[in-house]
Amino acid sequence: MGKIFQYVLDTTKNSVFYFHFILLDTAPSLCYAFHETRVHVMKTFLTGVIVSLLIGTTGMAQDTASFKGSEVLPELLRSESGLQIKTLDEWKFIRQPELYETFSKEMYGCMPGLPEEIKYTVFESSTNALNGLATRKQITISMVNNAHKTSVDLLLYLPNAARGPAPLFLTLNFKGNHAISDEPEIKICEKKMAPSDKEPYPRADASSRWPLDLILGKGYAVATMARGDIAIDGKGFPTNNVLGLFPELQNRKDNFTTIGAWAWTLSRALDFLEKQPEINPRQVAVLGHSRLGKTALWAGVNDPRFAAVISNDSGAGGAALSRRMMGETIADLCRAFPYWFCQNFQKYVGHDKEMPFDQHQLMALIAPRHIYVASAEDDAWADPEGEFTSLMLANPAFELFGIQAALPATKMPLVNEPVHGHNGYHMRTGKHDLSRYDWENYIEFLDKHFEH
Ligand code: GCU
Repeated sequence: MGKIFQYVLDTTKNSVFYFHFILLDTAPSLCYAFHETRVHVMKTFLTGVIVSLLIGTTGMAQDTASFKGSEVLPELLRSESGLQIKTLDEWKFIRQPELYETFSKEMYGCMPGLPEEIKYTVFESSTNALNGLATRKQITISMVNNAHKTSVDLLLYLPNAARGPAPLFLTLNFKGNHAISDEPEIKICEKKMAPSDKEPYPRADASSRWPLDLILGKGYAVATMARGDIAIDGKGFPTNNVLGLFPELQNRKDNFTTIGAWAWTLSRALDFLEKQPEINPRQVAVLGHSRLGKTALWAGVNDPRFAAVISNDSGAGGAALSRRMMGETIADLCRAFPYWFCQNFQKYVGHDKEMPFDQHQLMALIAPRHIYVASAEDDAWADPEGEFTSLMLANPAFELFGIQAALPATKMPLVNEPVHGHNGYHMRTGKHDLSRYDWENYIEFLDKHFEH
């Protein structure tokens, strides 16, 4: 049985260069410790060879350090049957479907189709919101499936100064739609966000994360829904939410999960939003912070209508590579938040380094659309370097679409020095948060790609 180990090296050009070698594994039953030692010896040997070959190449030491802990990764461009993926067709018809199936079966769970009934009711609107900057609409999405019912409120701001259909940020929030702004007309979300919540969050409690003046002022529409309105962020299986619409999807190893429900509902919101004449349906970015950044990635993978996917500090189970085991591990995720992932994912607890898939492959599933990953310097729990590296390692999938160096960086950018290519990355100073600086960069990046 052969095992393929993939060593990722920097090149002096702006592209990633893969160096493969095959370890003939004649004794698959050898104990893990021995296996690790052997890999370590091979790595050390290989690094020595490479360093002597490239001696004198500037930045080499730094670049190699960028990949610390991620040298041994499941291959992106080799199919399960061993085929080296060289063409776009091979990617589209062989590798992409099998990777999608892996993430859906093993990690985020299955995704349902449309419910039997879905209705959108605009229950409030004003053309004079945010001091005349925007038009506000509040919409209830009512859904019925198999006699189960639920509803979710969507808050939408449209820029009044737009010259035509506007690009849109579609997002989820942590504390309720009423927590993103102090506008008294915004309906208070009475549903709990998490089981420990006693009462709704105060109005505008999360407004620092939502610089509406900036977003609307730059000509972007923004729409949001609350995580708890869709599915409570906690264990158990309440029936009065989106998960409850599909109880038959629970008793299976690839069950419909909370991240799945959040992502699925983003698509149901998009079904409505893409038909609004004030919105450009080809310029919709799905954005999320932290657990909702994990969700944005999964939503982007599932729904090709999202032209850009923005993951803010999404960390483990999001942009960060699992194999590095820096910050949060799979054991941490599955202990605190087992319901985010499907039952199958539990089997990887303690096996982060042996998983047959990793998050660079998830990123690649979004190609050729735009991805932006952002990290924060003090957010070691989310492993900034792991977030950067996985996005960079998705570049070869974009190359199949003719996009060279989709993320034009081969080493970790410096703090507050964003890299904006076809894909984008930045690490800002500060803590785990969604800040005005993050939004400024998302807008600057999208302005390069979304003409409006
Ligand atoms: C916890 C969790 C992370 C998650 C974060 C958040 O820290 O461990 O995985 O991203 O919460 O959503 O804020």
